[in-house]
Order: sequence, then C-alpha cells, then structure tokens
Amino acid sequence: MVLDILDGWFVTVGVHLYDTLIPIFRKARFFLLLPFTPILKVITDHALSRLGVTIGSSPKADLCILDKRFYARLWADQIFGLEEMFAEGWWTSGNLEVFYDKLFSLGDKHRWLFRLQISYWEGLFRWGVLNTGRDGTNFNAAREYELPVEFFKLLTDKEHMQHSCGIYVNGATTYADSQIEKFKLIASKLELKPGMTLLDLGCGFGGLSKFMADNYGVTVTGVTVCESMATQATNHCRGSKVTIKTQHWRRMEGKFDRISIIEMLEHVGKQNYDEFFTKIKSLLNPGGRILLQHYVVDPGIPHFFEFACKNHFGQTYVAALNEFVTYSTRSFRIANMQDFSLDLEQAGKHFMGMIEDNRPEMEALVGPKLVRALQITYAAALAATKFKGGQVYQTVLVGKDDQNRIPVHRVTFRCARDSLPLHSYSNPQGSDHLLLEYKSVSCTESDTLKGNDCHGVWKLDQ
Ligand SMILES: C[S@@+](CC[C@H](N)C(=O)[O-])C[C@H]1O[C@@H](n2cnc3c(N)ncnc32)[C@H](O)[C@@H]1O
Repeated sequence: MVLDILDGWFVTVGVHLYDTLIPIFRKARFFLLLPFTPILKVITDHALSRLGVTIGSSPKADLCILDKRFYARLWADQIFGLEEMFAEGWWTSGNLEVFYDKLFSLGDKHRWLFRLQISYWEGLFRWGVLNTGRDGTNFNAAREYELPVEFFKLLTDKEHMQHSCGIYVNGATTYADSQIEKFKLIASKLELKPGMTLLDLGCGFGGLSKFMADNYGVTVTGVTVCESMATQATNHCRGSKVTIKTQHWRRMEGKFDRISIIEMLEHVGKQNYDEFFTKIKSLLNPGGRILLQHYVVDPGIPHFFEFACKNHFGQTYVAALNEFVTYSTRSFRIANMQDFSLDLEQAGKHFMGMIEDNRPEMEALVGPKLVRALQITYAAALAATKFKGGQVYQTVLVGKDDQNRIPVHRVTFRCARDSLPLHSYSNPQGSDHLLLEYKSVSCTESDTLKGNDCHGVWKLDQ
C-alpha cells in the first residue's frame, strides 16, 4: 500500500519533471544548433538525396521545407523533431508514403540509428521507465480516445468505428468490410455460442461488442478506460445485449467464457504484463478462451515512439514477440497465433486516404495540428509495417491444461492470403517457452506487391 502510494508520487513527479525539463533541453539544443544551419543543411541534404529524397520548395517534393529553422530542429530532436515539425507545418510532402519509403530504404542493418537519437533516450524515461499504465496515475488515458466520435467516423468507418486493423479476406476491400471479416474470424476462433458471456477489454466505441451480441447471441461486457468513449460506445450498443463500463483493467471483476482484447495490450506497459495476464486469467471461466490482437516489434526497433505517445496514444509499449510469448505463457498456453501484417498495410493506407479525403471536416473537429500529427504517425507506422519493423498478430490463449480446443495448434505464417505452416513450432512439455522458427521464404519485389510476404528466420527463447 505504502509502496503503491510512493510509486504513484514517483510517477506524478517524474511526469511533471519530464514535461518541464525536457522541452527546455530541447529548446537549448535547437538554439545551439541554429547558427550551424548552413552546414547542417549540406550534410542533411546530401544524406537524404542519397536515399533518393527530393528536397525543394515545391509542394510536390518529397520534402518541402517551409521553415528555414528545419535543419537545426531536425538535428536537435531527430525523428521526434521531424514529426513535430510536420504537425506544426514546418515542412510538408508531396507524398508522405513515398518519403517514408525512401527513409526506410536504409534497411535493417541501420536500425541502430534509432538508438542513436537523444530524443529516444529522453523518451525512454517518460514512456519506458515511469509506469504510467498503473491505476490511478491519471496519465493512462490516451488523448486520442477522448476525441469526438464524428472524428472517428471520418477516420475509420461510420458503422463500426473500430480503431484497429481489419482483415482483408473474402473479397473485403473496404475498411468497413475488413472489420466485419475480422469480427467473423474472431468469433470463429473463440467458438462463440449463444448464451456465452464475452468480455471485450478495451472495447473502443463498441463496434465488436455490438456485432458479437447481435450476430452470435452472446452477452457482452465492453470495458474502456476513457469516459467519453464509454458514453459513445453505450449509445452505439443501445438495444443490444451489451453493457459498457468505464474501468481500468485492474479493477475488472467477474467471470467470462470468452475475452477479446483488440489492440489494447499496447497500453498495458511491460512493467504490468505479469499482473495483466494474471488478471485476465482470473476473469476467465474454466475452459475459456482469450483472443488478443496485438502489435509486436522486430529486434532493434524501439518499443515506443515518443511522438505517437505524446500526441495520440499515451503510454504505449509494443512488445517484441519473445516478450509477448514469455509473459503470456506464464499464465496460458498459446493455441494459435497468426500474423496479419499485410492487412495492416491496407489499414494504414485506409487511414492515410481518409485523412486526405476528409481533411477539412477533420480539421474543423480537432484542429489542423492534430490531423497532421495523425497523418505523420500513420505514415511512419505504414512504413514500419512495410519494412517489417512491426507486425500485428492475433493470438488465442487457453488454459495451460487445455489441450484440445483449437484444431490448429501451431503458429501460422502469413503468405499470400493464406496462412501457411512454413515454420516449426514447439512448446516442449513442461516448458513455458515457445519456439518459433520462420523459415526464410524467398520472394521478389513483385511477389511482395502481390501479397507474398517475406520474413527472415525468427528464433525465440532458445
Ligand atoms: C486502440 S483502442 C482499440 C479499441 C477497440 N478494441 C477497437 O478495436 O477499435 C484501445 C482501447 O483500449 C482502451 N484502454 C486503454 N487503456 C486501458 C485500461 N487501462 N483499461 C481498460 N481499457 C483501456 C482504450 O480506452 C481503447 O478503448
């Protein structure tokens, strides 16, 4: 109890210190570098042009610089500065997706550059060390989730307002259809049956909760930590067998047959993983099943990006695959795991397109800075997905002694539109660890464009 209070104070003081001191350090770096603008410009332009980035004052250029102080701020705050400057209108791009593709063409062997950034180490204290994902610190609610539902309708789709990756199968080409395909897939993996209870943890605007209640006869409890989101979810689910609660996951009580956790794990924070998996285990009826849709990052890619945390999502920690496996298998057995990164690319393109198409309406609702911030966040996330820095998985967790629930007890590998068993998977008896091995698949650029994904060899927990 006393430790809890002290921890709460530490987090509160830490966040306030960070919010006060770090902007001062950043400003100081910027002003120190400002007189060196001409030389920084030569170095930067040279490096970027080697990557094929076109620089100029034309709005069609990959990098159209609108403020001469751009170079000093770029060197002062690196990626974080680049993104902040975009949000503030210091630069623009004729095609943000192409610009990021060119930046990411630096390739895997240059991932160490991420760690070379001062802004990364500054951000590590705020988003990595301080445990703001704990209950009661008031820092856990993401800014983005308190935005008006009208804004999300313009960004996602008008019907389900899901803010998560859909599945583009069975002819689904639109974001709305991809969400329905995702719901159906989740329902089948969870084997939902009428009369069951489903907990939708991190329910967003209630799209999945409502769909499952209306189409599968289950009684749903949707939980979100955000007040305004809960109100909007309640409105959306009116008339369906859905109860929406505003609650931190730590405070959840009750027992459920099934649990869905769609893109919410990212807000839990690594420090809280053990507690989280123990908690959801306690919420599950015997023989129950949990489906998580969650992101993972490749080795060498940071677990959070400060710009996205600060401007949109609040505390975010994206686990590496081995971290996810290690923590989740302390309480559960992994019954099925599937990579949906190709779908993530399509979802990313959808968000970028929606921002382009609906910019005036979006800006009227939340202001131009936030819309531009969102645009660059999606552009970076899309590039990270394309260049295999991050993936999105669906994982089914079952009780440790539950041996025969899901027919395919293996990790699935996404290739073309199918999941192909191109890897080996073992979960040795008595071991909490899972070994995944993705065999390399050779593919050409045109295969990639057609949808054949290409991963290297992945080995975990050996
Ligand atoms: C990316 S949104 C996903 C929403 C929804 N599942 C969807 O697919 O659209 C993350 C959700 O997790 C919820 N969340 C974040 N932190 C939480 C916490 N500590 N306890 C409960 N819910 C939380 C947010 O309120 C939000 O609804």
